[in-house]
Amino acid sequence: MKNQETVWNSSYLNGLSWKKSTKDIKKILYKKSILELGVGNGKTLKPILSQNPKEVVAIDISEEAIKIASKSIKSDKVIFLNEDFLKFKTNKKFDVIVCYYFLNNFRLRERIDVVTKIKSLLKNNGTILFEDFAKGDFRQKGKILEKDTIQKQDGRICHFFEKNELIKLFRDFNNIKVEEKTFSPIRLNRDIKRKILKATIK
Ligand SMILES: C[S@@+](CC[C@H](N)C(=O)[O-])C[C@H]1O[C@@H](n2cnc3c(N)ncnc32)[C@H](O)[C@@H]1O
Repeated sequence: MKNQETVWNSSYLNGLSWKKSTKDIKKILYKKSILELGVGNGKTLKPILSQNPKEVVAIDISEEAIKIASKSIKSDKVIFLNEDFLKFKTNKKFDVIVCYYFLNNFRLRERIDVVTKIKSLLKNNGTILFEDFAKGDFRQKGKILEKDTIQKQDGRICHFFEKNELIKLFRDFNNIKVEEKTFSPIRLNRDIKRKILKATIK
């Protein structure tokens, strides 16, 4: 299996992109230090910056993602880092860690490592804002690697979460509020369901 850095780089070079900016990000970022995991093309970074945070460290394993995001978003508040989050070393701790469509990119063993790492980088009274795919989403199609984890045709790993699984994964935190949302992105076909989980974790 190709490593995920190679897979993501070639996906971006082949034109992978998300056109719409993320809309609903909790209004708690003003003057806060933020870590954004897997910045991608910056579709969540834009609304983060619109809340006027103190600073944002935006990390991505893909050099191509960092090139795209840093070209489209010019701000002296952002530090772009082309690094594997699991190898990221810093003395800093963050007020808020934004984990949007990031954790799905890992197999179970690594998801646990990511959560442990997040905990080590979050201030005591800090918050994690989480959004990701939920089980049953119409995109859950591909080669099955593990329970609810698939590999897409282009090699990207993608996991689909259940509410209880998320609660268990973040059990070392004091408080987790999770909501499940279902949309029909195509009005004429109600069988196609987009399912996501949104969580605020403290
Ligand atoms: C779905 S995309 C971007 C989502 C983005 N957070 C947003 O909301 O628009 C996920 C990103 O995570 C990055 N990624 C995957 N594994 C990573 C890792 N170990 N460390 C850092 N970034 C990683 C990928 O390169 C990809 O750009």
